[in-house]
This record gives sequence, structure tokens and C-alpha cells, in this order.
Amino acid sequence: MSFFHTLLVKTAQLMPEKVLWFFSKNYIAGKTLSSAIKVVKDLNSKGMLATIDVLGESIETKEEALIAKEQAMEVFDAIVEHNLDANVSIKPTQFGLAIDENFAYEQILGLVKRAGELNSFVRIDMEDSPYTDSTLNVYKRIFKDHKNVGVVLQSYMKRTYSDAVTFNTIGTNYRLCKGIYIEPESLAYKDKQAIRDNYMKTLEEMLKNSNYVGIATHDKYLLDGSYKLINELNISKNKFEFQMLLGVREDLRNKINNDGYKIRIYVPFGKDWYAYSLRRLKENPQLTGHIVKEFFTFRK
Ligand code: FDA
Repeated sequence: MSFFHTLLVKTAQLMPEKVLWFFSKNYIAGKTLSSAIKVVKDLNSKGMLATIDVLGESIETKEEALIAKEQAMEVFDAIVEHNLDANVSIKPTQFGLAIDENFAYEQILGLVKRAGELNSFVRIDMEDSPYTDSTLNVYKRIFKDHKNVGVVLQSYMKRTYSDAVTFNTIGTNYRLCKGIYIEPESLAYKDKQAIRDNYMKTLEEMLKNSNYVGIATHDKYLLDGSYKLINELNISKNKFEFQMLLGVREDLRNKINNDGYKIRIYVPFGKDWYAYSLRRLKENPQLTGHIVKEFFTFRK
């Protein structure tokens, strides 16, 4: 972590909520479900899809997990009520994965069943490496009887290509991203190009085997590579979509949309935005640069 980044993270922790909100508001739809609905309606009106995430991560009690499930259920109700073109992304530790895997399985299963009744879909986000196996286990158990669930693989993880080979055999709906957590060198590639190479190699393996892939990246190199691969392999448009985070590289997301490809935007919202923003700052030194850039752009 650079001196400047350490300083910014420390300063952020002292920042009044209002100041941190100033930095975070482009990346977060708002504090309430109604703010997320507004953002999704706007995206839908521009021809883009959304995946909605209620902010919050590892919880300490089963009661908190039940609340998280209730909140996700409310999002599905809103999707139906407002006729939104959206699905829901969840963090498994928010559903109790760090407390009891079977309990988390039951909660996520309940959510997937509800989504199924509404003809919708649940994406299980991938968190840090202590939860990779348990997340994949939960996904596999649910997927056996419910096809409206998908999982995420991270190209910085050395195991990912082999996970894709395994999960291709059951026909998985993936999101492929680089990965955001800080992982040990024994488990994860650190070199930028190695992460990109693993991304492209894994994407090819997924697409060639006829899986559905959410290509989640803002990296122009990977986007160009994905376009090329899709053309070379002649992949049908109903076998992939692009995915980006709210407020990031809107120039690229508009280009993808204009090129006639499906693009889904990750829309996080919720009262836990403060902890989420601080965590993202600590975990991803690159964000420091983005925030500073935004700050100076604003002051011009
Ligand atoms: P890279 O980090 O190289 O970014 C490329 C360019 O995009 C940057 O140069 C910058 O211009 C811009 N950019 C990227 N991130 C930005 C940001 N936050 N703010 C401003 N500009 C930014 N990770 C994970 O571990 N588990 C998960 O489940 C998910 N889920 C997920 C869903 C979706 C839809 C996306 C897009 C991403 C995730 N991620 C994730 C995060 C992912 O792993 C990764 O950390 C980020 O997407 C950044 O990686 P890029 O591929 O965009 O490349």
C-alpha cells in the first residue's frame, strides 16, 4: 500500500459520513430501496439491465442473516412491482456462510426458490478465499434442482481455470471477474498480465463449453479480447452478457450498449454503504486514484 493510499484510507476513516458520501455516491445507488429502483429504471430506459445488491457483508448472528434474506426478498418484490429488468446479487457471508454453511445454504435456497417463482435469478457473489469452497458447495447444491442461480469466479485465483473445467460439466451460469480481495501469493496471481491471461483462458473455456457468462470487467484489454473471442467462436448473444459496476467507465458501458450487446450494471444500495465504501478503499488501492481523480474533476 503506498504512503498516499494509507493516508487516504486513514483520512477516510475520520471523514464525516457526508464527506465520504460525496466520494461514494457515484458508485452506490443510495441508502434506500427506492433510490435503487430509481437508478435501475433509468438504466432500463437506456436499454441496460441491472443486478441489485443490498449492501452488507459478513454477519455475526443467524438473526442478521434472516434480515438480509428478508431485504433481498423485498428487492424481488420491487422488481416485480416496478417491472424492472433486473436480478439480485448476494454475498454468501451476509446469509451466514461464515457461521454455518448449511444454514446459509437454506437461506440462499429460499431466496432462489422465491426468485424462481418470479422468473428471476440470483447471482452468488464470490468473496475472499476462506469462502471459495463453501460458496461453490452451496451453489452446486442449489443448482442441482434450481437453474436460476449463478456463481462468480475470479481470474486472480490460481484455482479458477480448474474450477471452470469442473463447473462447466454441470452447465453453469457464471460471472467472471478479476477479483477484488487481497489474497496471498500462494493462492492468487499478483501480476496484472497474469490475471488478464487467466481471465481470457478461463473465458474461452467457459464459452467453448456453452455456458452462460457474465463478462464482468472495465478493462479495455479484456473487453477487446472478449469481443474478438466471441466473434471467433461465433458465440450466440444469448450465451453471454457484459457486466460493470455502477458509476464506472460509463463510456465503455455505453459503447457496449450501442454495439448491441447485453450489458448489466451492478447496483449496490443500503444503509451499510459507509462500511462498504471504507472496505473498498482499504482493499483496492486503485480506488484511491479514482477517488482523487474524481475529487479534482469536481473542483475544476
Ligand atoms: P481494472 O481494475 O484493471 O480496471 C480497469 C479500469 O476500470 C481502470 O483503469 C479504471 O479506469 C476503471 N475502474 C475499475 N474499477 C473501478 C472503480 N471501482 N472505480 C472507478 N473506476 C474503476 N469481485 C469479486 O471479488 N467478487 C465478486 O463477486 C465481484 N463481482 C463483480 C461484479 C461486477 C458486475 C463487476 C464489474 C465487478 C465485480 N467484482 C467482483 C470486482 C472485480 O473483481 C474487479 O475488482 C473490478 O471489476 C476491477 O477490475 P477490472 O476488470 O474492471 O479491471
